[in-house]
Amino acid sequence: MINISDLRVRYGRETALDGIQLNIQKNKTCAIIGPSGCGKTTLLYTMAGLISPESGKVLIAGEETRSVRKETGLISQSGGLLPWKTARENVALGLKARGVGKEQITRRVSMILEELGILEHQHKYPSQLSGGQKQRVSIARTLVLEPDLLLMDEASSALDALTREHIQNLILRLYLKNPTTLVLVTHSIEEAVFLGQTIVIMERAAIKQVIENPYFGDEDIRSGPEYYHICQEVRGWLKEETEAALGEGRRES
Ligand SMILES: Nc1ncnc2c1ncn2[C@@H]1O[C@H](COP(=O)(O)OP(=O)(O)O)[C@@H](O)[C@H]1O
Ligand SMILES: [Mg+2]
Repeated sequence: MINISDLRVRYGRETALDGIQLNIQKNKTCAIIGPSGCGKTTLLYTMAGLISPESGKVLIAGEETRSVRKETGLISQSGGLLPWKTARENVALGLKARGVGKEQITRRVSMILEELGILEHQHKYPSQLSGGQKQRVSIARTLVLEPDLLLMDEASSALDALTREHIQNLILRLYLKNPTTLVLVTHSIEEAVFLGQTIVIMERAAIKQVIENPYFGDEDIRSGPEYYHICQEVRGWLKEETEAALGEGRRES
């Protein structure tokens, strides 16, 4: 589904991605984890077609991304809800823009709000919703367009621990019910192991390690020793990276 080769992205003189190679299979999930500033969001936005690479290629379903693809859904870190529209209106927005008929919009929006457990909050404005509810609306807004590729940037990082687990469970359930290709960026080890069939560990501008996670898909995985084991493995790779960065800092100062 996604084939990335020799990808290089720059912001002015800063190289944000340098020689990225990554393949993600159709209808699989991939979690991208790494320290702040390592280039996770840049990689995701490049997949979304929002950032043009300096060199290299991003193929989505065999086609090079030159602009935003209609079938790609992106959930940004802020959620991006319009504050002056209700939950329901926010979810309907994309369908309206695509010229979908009124009755069908009503039906599809109700269905997705119901599925995500926020139908009762449909007439509230974003400021009247809790963090978890807002995140559900953002997810609904994207899912209602039935993307075949879903990109999520730190979808749960602004939430408290319990709400975060609820959202993670919800994402897993939605995925298992209707598998699509899912790429999610996170700085949480637990989230990466819970939601990633493949876990990609990034260091500055590059991919450091790719780990396959055979335990993915089990909602009760969090209490098992295998889960803990993979978390430790990911932590090990990240720790090395953090220690190297700290070492560099020490040498510089
Ligand atoms: N619009 C931008 N202009 C200039 N530099 C940027 C921009 N966005 C990100 N960067 C820089 O690129 C690097 C990678 O950023 P980002 O992809 O946001 O990292 P992450 O999501 O892993 O925290 C960082 O050093 C960041 O400062
Ligand atoms: Mg980011």
